[in-house]
Amino acid sequence: MTMHHLQIGNGQTIPAAIFDDPREFGQFTAERIRDLIAGATRDVAICFATGATPLPVYERLVEMHAAGGVSFERVNAFLLDEYIGLPEGHEQSFATFMRRHLFDHVGLPAARFHAPNGRGYNPVEESRRYRETIDAVGGLDLTLLGIGPNGHIAFNEPGSRADEHVRLVALAPKTREANARFFGDLDQVPKHAITIGIADILASRRLILMATGAGKAEILERALRGPITPDVPASFLQTHPGELTLVADRAAAARLIA
Ligand code: PGA
Repeated sequence: MTMHHLQIGNGQTIPAAIFDDPREFGQFTAERIRDLIAGATRDVAICFATGATPLPVYERLVEMHAAGGVSFERVNAFLLDEYIGLPEGHEQSFATFMRRHLFDHVGLPAARFHAPNGRGYNPVEESRRYRETIDAVGGLDLTLLGIGPNGHIAFNEPGSRADEHVRLVALAPKTREANARFFGDLDQVPKHAITIGIADILASRRLILMATGAGKAEILERALRGPITPDVPASFLQTHPGELTLVADRAAAARLIA
């Protein structure tokens, strides 16, 4: 692992932890989460990302919990987003994903798992309720983010604005194509989702942006060094007033770090 002070747009630098080994990538990020929880004097609100990228992080957290190294009893866990219309318990529902890969294995109390309900009749009302749930715990202390090939963060697709909160969104064709691998067939991929907005992400006190693989190198560079634009929603991260850390493998960071 190498630590860098990475120059991003806006004349800022951010810490960037760059890895050769996915296990170390997971360990580093899991330790940041563990330290945040251990150091907190009150409940901690963490928003978790789904997708392939964070899996090594969740594997390490499960191991740490089994070894008595981290407790989720004082954590309020949130999801970045959820598909609309998948039946309860559907394998690709993000709530199911997070239960299977993390929450079922770390003793998260059921009442502390907060997710947008993608099966309700009124996604607009559900979006309002979800935003209020985040507000009710005092906002997010940490948000974990992946980045989509089109620069989306959560399901804020190109065209999203920095002042938008939790809402119903249509998925970009590129996102549905990227996620078709999980559904086996493009037609099975939902067309809509509820997502936390860029404004909610920017209000999170800490952000960890995770990226692995050469396929993310170009979009990661555009996100962190390119113009701040709705065309690349992740570029709004350059305006985050709190603590933003990049955790990436060498392939994803290739255009940022020599
Ligand atoms: P991935 O997804 O981790 O599966 O690459 C990232 C995203 O779409 O946000």
